[in-house]
Amino acid sequence: MKKILLFGSQGMLGTQFFTDACESFFIIPLSRFHIDLLEPEKIEKIIEEHNPDIVINASAWTDVESAENPKNYEDVLTINAKSPGEMARVCHKRNIPFYHISTDFVFSGAEKDVFEENSPKNPCNVYGTSKAKGEEEALQYQTTKIFRTAWLYGEYGHNFVQRIVHLLKNPPRNGSGIKGVCDQWGSPTWTKNVSEVLMQACHFPERFPEQVYHAVNEGAVSRREWIEKISQILGFTKPIVSISHNSFVSLAKRPNSSVLKNTRMPLLPSWDISLKEYLLKK
Ligand SMILES: NC(=O)c1ccc[n+]([C@@H]2O[C@H](COP(=O)([O-])OP(=O)(O)OC[C@H]3O[C@@H](n4cnc5c(N)ncnc54)[C@H](OP(=O)(O)O)[C@@H]3O)[C@@H](O)[C@H]2O)c1
Repeated sequence: MKKILLFGSQGMLGTQFFTDACESFFIIPLSRFHIDLLEPEKIEKIIEEHNPDIVINASAWTDVESAENPKNYEDVLTINAKSPGEMARVCHKRNIPFYHISTDFVFSGAEKDVFEENSPKNPCNVYGTSKAKGEEEALQYQTTKIFRTAWLYGEYGHNFVQRIVHLLKNPPRNGSGIKGVCDQWGSPTWTKNVSEVLMQACHFPERFPEQVYHAVNEGAVSRREWIEKISQILGFTKPIVSISHNSFVSLAKRPNSSVLKNTRMPLLPSWDISLKEYLLKK
């Protein structure tokens, strides 16, 4: 059995991967309790101690809003860039494959722009900038592979789909209806499908000869279309109110489009097929 050292094992994707993969691999799950990624200097020791066959990093500072607070800049950069860079360096030194998870937010495009694996990066907020820097640091080493994903939802941790399901079941008392941003596009992706890609990459690394992959469900939608589909699948009939992203007060700018195109590996299911499977199996 291959031994996998998993950073971020208690996050939304990390928990999904651990749950799905723990019977096929010997996984050592690491959380903040084992190592604080604000201390990248401790990474080498923990990798040496466990001597894994593969290292996966599913940890990150993922709160896009709080990343904009200048008092957090340094910490965001340490967790999202310095630490992955150090993991990549140590893995390369010991000839261990390193799989690092990244984000569509390294891109920021206009309406319905689509980004391929080697499209130039142009993040529009602190989180995206820190993740882009993390990619650069990690990609210096040939043992690194980056799996970018987007608009994640799943069984574990808080996410957009869970919030919308809650709102549909507990609609606003003032009868205003659920609002959805209609002018920003992305690729909603089920953590289970990303976890399957990671398992494939662990089983068959030779099938992943490139350094960067887009692990996303197929298709591109606005948040309003996404909410409408959730509502329709669950049998709700109230219309969803379209609003522009401009009507939201937020510290972080978000891309008008960050749609990822997967041109390098077998396509994952379409976003609506996975969404339906996720919602109806719960
Ligand atoms: N969520 C999305 O929509 C989305 C979209 C695109 C890409 N991604 C990428 O996918 C990956 C997984 O995202 P996710 O949504 O699963 O994230 P998540 O649920 O926020 O989990 C991130 C994990 O990182 C850990 N972490 C944060 N700071 C740490 C520190 N200082 N030391 C140790 N551990 C620390 C957290 O630990 P605690 O549990 O202790 O806080 C948490 O378990 C990330 O690389 C993210 O950038 C996510």
